[in-house]
Amino acid sequence: MRLLPMAVRDLDDVIALEDLTHVAPWTKGNFTDSLTAGYWAYCLRELAEGDDEKDPLLAYCVLMPGVDELNLLNITVNPLYRRRGLAERILQTVEDLAISRELFKIFLEVRFSNKQAIGLYEKLGYCQVGIRKEYYPAHDGVREDAKVMMKDLKKE
Ligand SMILES: CC(C)(COP(=O)(O)OP(=O)(O)OC[C@H]1O[C@@H](n2cnc3c(N)ncnc32)[C@H](O)[C@@H]1OP(=O)(O)O)[C@@H](O)C(=O)NCCC(=O)NCCS
Repeated sequence: MRLLPMAVRDLDDVIALEDLTHVAPWTKGNFTDSLTAGYWAYCLRELAEGDDEKDPLLAYCVLMPGVDELNLLNITVNPLYRRRGLAERILQTVEDLAISRELFKIFLEVRFSNKQAIGLYEKLGYCQVGIRKEYYPAHDGVREDAKVMMKDLKKE
């Protein structure tokens, strides 16, 4: 497996996985804007067997750096590869990088209904620090609240 910076050539695969996964998927423009803005964006790919094969996309993430914190905007794992510790490993790599850049807090928002993501964040030591009311669009037009979570990397 390889975790590499996301590039424009990754975006067709990223969008295909994004559309498959999310109720309100990011557009290609959202990803290109993130790359242009210098956000931290990574793709995890499995090394393909043959030279002619394209390396399958396992996961990707996007983080927005702030003055002394990171904001996790997106982390998505291919459904075929979930529950194998990939998200955990990606976030641990990001945390190591954050500490090396002296960014000691990571914030994120997550839907209250997203039990797998909340399970992931709680396992890694993220705590709830707030609620954003009606933050997310939902299927039926009713908006869903976001749980705001944070990890203080100095406490590690
Ligand atoms: C959330 C997501 C990124 C987790 O990716 P993953 O690679 O499957 O997660 P991991 O295998 O690293 O799991 C690490 C921990 O997260 C928790 N977790 C992951 N999937 C879970 C599930 N389906 N139910 C409950 N807990 C879960 C567990 O604590 C797990 O540790 P364990 O396997 O030792 O019990 C993945 O399910 C996903 O892409 N979901 C859709 C996109 C999304 O919701 N992204 C987050 C938006 S805020």
